[in-house]
Amino acid sequence: MNMPALSALLANSAGRVMLLGDAAAYPILLVENSHARARIALHGAQVLSFQVHGEQDLLWTSESAVYREGAAIRGGIPICWPWFGPSLQMPPLQAHGFARNHFWSLASVLEQSDGSSVLNFSLTDTAQTRQLWPHGFILSLAVVVGRNLSVSLTMTNTDSLPVQITAALHTYLRVSEISRIAIRGLENTRYIDTLAANAVLSSPEAITFAAETDRIYFDCEDEVVIDDPLWPRKIKVAKTGSRTTVVWNPWVEKSSKMADFDRGGYQNMVCVEATNAADDSIALAPGESHCLATTVSSIS
Ligand code: BG6
Repeated sequence: MNMPALSALLANSAGRVMLLGDAAAYPILLVENSHARARIALHGAQVLSFQVHGEQDLLWTSESAVYREGAAIRGGIPICWPWFGPSLQMPPLQAHGFARNHFWSLASVLEQSDGSSVLNFSLTDTAQTRQLWPHGFILSLAVVVGRNLSVSLTMTNTDSLPVQITAALHTYLRVSEISRIAIRGLENTRYIDTLAANAVLSSPEAITFAAETDRIYFDCEDEVVIDDPLWPRKIKVAKTGSRTTVVWNPWVEKSSKMADFDRGGYQNMVCVEATNAADDSIALAPGESHCLATTVSSIS
């Protein structure tokens, strides 16, 4: 995005939004208000950290994450769009779509009367995106940094043909120790276990972790709570516009094969993803929009 336009938007933020790092090459925004501090990369419009004052960060971002145009950042809230998971094309394109691999534009910064900050980002189709996915679109992402963190992705089909979308707000949450947490809210909910030949299973128990876990839960719109007794804290993840939730931890072997994953980092993260996938893929007629949103907060 052009630097004068970005600087002009930040000048209106009463000093609550600043540029960090090598601003011209890879802008990262620091948002700081009376509630919290957050960092957001323009690359992928990816929230990297969100810390309510006096609390630990709610998000996990790898110390070895790569900050380079075209590379997905490991951590925070990557936006997976317009496909979730592996690409179905031959030869296959990058997993989880291209929205997380492009620079977005900052469209506006608003300060609310309750002290929260709202940043709006946008991404539209270009010749480059049309080579990957031959459709017109507008993506708008509203990030609200307040007592809670809210991220709302509005996707609009600007094409003359209908499109089918799968997507996720792939939230990496920071936890004290993966083997000690429990996730509640998905008991007795059917899921596909992608590590067990896509078997469809369900369990009456809270989710606990003792191995790699990669599950797609169906027909679930309710919030989940991550109980982290060591710190102690509970993280609530609520969502709208999504009937699938993905729960992921790569554990030792898979994470050790990812160059951008800290050694041992799998112990301090879990992904709980507001998703549109499987039978919850989104059909958008020309001109139609869909909003996928998630809110992350700590509760006592
Ligand atoms: C999760 C998937 O959403 O993302 C996993 O369920 C995948 O299968 C993980 O490994 C990470 O994907 P990536 O492309 O960011 O390494």
